[in-house]
Amino acid sequence: MTTASDHNKKLFIETVGCQMNILDSELVVAALKNQGYELTPDVAEADTVLFNTCSVREHAEHKIYSALGRLKFSKRTRPDQVIGVLGCMAQKDQELIFKKAPHVDLVVGTGQLSEVPRLIDEARTSRLRGLAVSLDRKEGTRLEVSSSFQSYDPLREPQMRPSPYQSFVRIMIGCDKFCTYCVVPMTRGPEQSRPPVDILRETELLAQQGVKEVTLLGQTVNSYKFTQDGKVWRLADLLAAISEIPEILRIKFVTNYPKDMTRELLLAIRSLPKAARYLHVPAQHGCNDMLAKMKRGYTIEQYREMMARITEVLPDAAVSSDFIVGFCGETEEQHQKSMDLIREFRFKNSFIFKYSERPGTKAASLFPDDIPDDVKRARNNEMLELQNRISEEDNAQFIGREVEVLVEGFSKTAQKTGHHADHGPGQLTGRTMCDRIVVFDGNPRLTGTLANVRISDVSSTTLLGQMVTYEQQTTPGSILPILS
Ligand code: SAH
Ligand code: SF4
Ligand code: F3S
Repeated sequence: MTTASDHNKKLFIETVGCQMNILDSELVVAALKNQGYELTPDVAEADTVLFNTCSVREHAEHKIYSALGRLKFSKRTRPDQVIGVLGCMAQKDQELIFKKAPHVDLVVGTGQLSEVPRLIDEARTSRLRGLAVSLDRKEGTRLEVSSSFQSYDPLREPQMRPSPYQSFVRIMIGCDKFCTYCVVPMTRGPEQSRPPVDILRETELLAQQGVKEVTLLGQTVNSYKFTQDGKVWRLADLLAAISEIPEILRIKFVTNYPKDMTRELLLAIRSLPKAARYLHVPAQHGCNDMLAKMKRGYTIEQYREMMARITEVLPDAAVSSDFIVGFCGETEEQHQKSMDLIREFRFKNSFIFKYSERPGTKAASLFPDDIPDDVKRARNNEMLELQNRISEEDNAQFIGREVEVLVEGFSKTAQKTGHHADHGPGQLTGRTMCDRIVVFDGNPRLTGTLANVRISDVSSTTLLGQMVTYEQQTTPGSILPILS
């Protein structure tokens, strides 16, 4: 019999889905590294193969089921391999995963991730399948269901993080908004805010470890609410408390829910220079009938009022959005209303998705998915083209201006061409306070510091420029020579 210790401890992990999943994978990998595992990019070499999955659209699920299909034969020659499916699809499909892919050893939902190391060991020693999922939303009282979804936020060690300067920090799990098209309230369970004391302890530790920028994560971060010692904490309070941590230079927060974008929150952001001037507040659609059918809880008029509040309080903030095209019954005229909304608000960028019917959602049971795929595709492309044109036009306003960038490291191009290998100066990338990507030449030692870049050219996604000067964060006030 194989024991848990006589395997090669090589771990392959594939992650799809949102930032919440990226954070979950990071934490699972850290826990396994603590037990001696090493990451490998080669699935054939790995004795442990994990998929952290997403169910938000059918395509994301197909991708994982095909990857699992490919492993079926390799497992015949490598019976010691342990294959695990984690995350949203694990919570949603549960036993069905074993039926569709009998060579899978463990299925672990979003609310049970702390169980992963133990379940891997058990699968390896006993060869029995492991299933750890939370309760379905109708399987118990709200309290029972909520407590079956455990937020997985162990404290991280510096060497376990992919970036030493940036980190996600979860402030909420789950969602109670129940937009009719969306599977997330099922896969992530009831909305639960984490205690501020835990969030702050985690952020302080990350700051001591060198983190300069935190991104607070939640499905609707601006709905954050937690009562601690008689005080009600909202997102604004968290932003203020984290701003007090000297090492933290920037605080981002995604995703925002339009209805909860209050004036108080906007005023708080204005008073806090470290809070990002970037608001991701998905509109989803430009037509009131569609918004009602989606049960988004606001009208276009209310969204417009929110945008007016943002422009009034935070005129420099960049706003980005998500849109769904081809939702049930969407007419050409209704689609054009979404197009008009993009023209009206000129979002910094928009994530555009073709509607994908999700079993178990209200929309799947109430409305037929009746827009043909080629129409969805055409509407998607039309919208993308419009948004890209607007993004490029608005980016062009930065030409000649100087922006402050938090340097993230070598650009994708530098990494692809191998230019980064000698660690000398090369093409770097970073982001502005309003989340615009900036590419410029400089010394990689600048990673994790703020640099000033003068913009000379733009595309719809990127600003290009030359560095002007930079300040060393460790010795405030000392200006190093011009490098460009
Ligand atoms: N909590 C975030 C979004 C989570 S899902 C929010 O409410 O803004 C990310 C995006 O996926 C959504 O904003 C929506 O645009 C898209 N999406 C969700 N369900 C979808 C579906 N069934 N088909 C297509 N797109 C979907
Ligand atoms: Fe899904 Fe709506 Fe919740 Fe966002 S707010 S996760 S779209 S149900
Ligand atoms: Fe997907 Fe789950 Fe995120 S369904 S989008 S991975 S919350």
